[in-house]
Amino acid sequence: MDIVADPRDMQERAQQWRAQGLSIAFVPTMGYFHQGHLSLMEYGRKVGDKVVVSLFVNPAQFGPAEDLDRYPRDLERDAALARQVGVDVLFTPTAEQMYPPDYQTYVEVGDAAKGLCGVSRPGHFRGVATVVCKLFNIVMPHTAIFGEKDYQQLVVIRRMAADLNLPVKVVGRPIVREEDGLAMSSRNTYLSPEERRAALCLQRALTAARRLVSARKSSREEILAVVQQVISQTPHTRIDYLALVDPETLAEVPAVRGEARLALAVWVGNTRLIDNALLVESKPCCV
Ligand code: PAF
Repeated sequence: MDIVADPRDMQERAQQWRAQGLSIAFVPTMGYFHQGHLSLMEYGRKVGDKVVVSLFVNPAQFGPAEDLDRYPRDLERDAALARQVGVDVLFTPTAEQMYPPDYQTYVEVGDAAKGLCGVSRPGHFRGVATVVCKLFNIVMPHTAIFGEKDYQQLVVIRRMAADLNLPVKVVGRPIVREEDGLAMSSRNTYLSPEERRAALCLQRALTAARRLVSARKSSREEILAVVQQVISQTPHTRIDYLALVDPETLAEVPAVRGEARLALAVWVGNTRLIDNALLVESKPCCV
């Protein structure tokens, strides 16, 4: 595996691969790999002749009061893990290379970026869309792979790729969870042992909602009430948002009709965690 830091070198390699008829699978990341990232890379291995992983903690997607400086970083460990799963290139540009002093162009997605995390993290998706658009232009992937834990991010990137006619297939892959159900996230490292236990309420809330829908109680009020109850009973937690949305547009829906996504953001101590689940309307059985 090669580590490439210069965007021009990366782009040249991508052009050469394309000229040879090779397909490129791309996994954009901010590093500090866990099994969730590795599962995206393994999927990349299946769908691409070459797998590129970017590791860039993107300052443009962090608000002034957010965790840019304390975001966990360990390039050596990440490089060893990426090598083990068969990544061809780990692309590690610097902030100066991605955003030189005269930088002035941003990508802004509309409605899909406005609700949910867009409310408490203004400017976040502008930063995400901008860096992902730049990375697509540098890495020139045929397929780009994102985790469904950041579900809104996946929808925003899909929207951007469609709206800007970007020649890339955007693929979402299932959330990878710890054995006890906590969705894997680099931010889980911030949690104290007590907070780590409290964090399980996100998964418990999603499970409670699924059960409710299976029992054909599928209105937004019923679902959000049960979710709120599970979380507010847990110490060290504060709800940022709970939402039942259309899986494609992220518009709020009044009930689970067909399919809906239940999305949550919850502060556990000083750490903001997100999680989500697909809810599927259960049909009356056998008349
Ligand atoms: O999901 C992430 O790690 C980041 O938001 C991404 C897609 C790499 C853009 O910086």
